[in-house]
Amino acid sequence: MSARPIIIDTDPGIDDAMAIFYALASPELDVIGLTTVFGNAHVDVCTTNAQRILDIAGGPEIPVAQGAARPLAMNYRGPSHFVHGVNGLADVALAAPSRAPHALDAAHFIIQQATARPGEVTLVPIGPLTNVALAMLLCPELPSLLAGMVLMGGNAFVGGNASPAAEANILNDPEAADIVFGADCPIVMCGLDVTEATIMSSEQIAGIASFDNPRALLATQILPYYRDFHLSHGGPDGIHVHDSTCISYLLAPHHYSSVQHPIRVDCGDGVGRGKTWPATRHALSAALWADRTPVTILTEVNSAAVVALELDRLARA
Ligand code: BDR
Ligand code: CA
Repeated sequence: MSARPIIIDTDPGIDDAMAIFYALASPELDVIGLTTVFGNAHVDVCTTNAQRILDIAGGPEIPVAQGAARPLAMNYRGPSHFVHGVNGLADVALAAPSRAPHALDAAHFIIQQATARPGEVTLVPIGPLTNVALAMLLCPELPSLLAGMVLMGGNAFVGGNASPAAEANILNDPEAADIVFGADCPIVMCGLDVTEATIMSSEQIAGIASFDNPRALLATQILPYYRDFHLSHGGPDGIHVHDSTCISYLLAPHHYSSVQHPIRVDCGDGVGRGKTWPATRHALSAALWADRTPVTILTEVNSAAVVALELDRLARA
């Protein structure tokens, strides 16, 4: 079977780096480009990091297209230094990237690739959904040109991580997220329902030091910072596996359970801003969700199996 072409839309980001490494080490996937977005850091920092990650992973020919610097309809909430470091990668000093960003911006790159290969490309957004929303606004037929989207973001039946209501990627641009969840194409939502139930333990992180390749070396340098954030914020003795969940789902969907509901995003200014709301059984309010394609919402995960799969791929030379 030929490898599935994917574009990863990303804000690297420690867990973004892990997801990109995971995808590049997986022959089932063909990473045809990275697009960058503000989020864990300013977009220019995220672009530089994406290029460095590809250099380290042996993918210098893969294009990196820079995208949005700010959300559609609000100010950027600012970088998450306490989660990912000032440079977005745990403040590890890294070499300058080997090449310049792609001539197209992220939204136009996504449209170009989807148009060139109709029905083939899967978008894998693992940051705020601004670039994807912009691409849909520029090209309303984009969803029909995609194989689908597998995105990290949102929380259906659990609380948020960036506010009591909302998950960080969605809270960083709720208006964009509401546009994207309205796309008429298959969408898989890898939200906190499963990503916070997927734990890579401190012991497993320490074990990465025995892997002998440049991806694993960077992982050993950046993951302790991310683990310390989890420990100091009431998390597990390890890390929640957020962005890599999209890659695990693409490789091994049988390790997940799901339900199907259309989604709306709270775009108000109140305490619920950024909450992803599935239309479950409340028929009276269903008009607000009408005409939306049901989203596959992941609800349960075999954490041990998907973490073992990711570590197995990270160990590959
Ligand atoms: C998401 O927010 C970011 O900090 C991570 O990279 C991930 O994409 C988790 O809520
Ligand atoms: Ca991310």
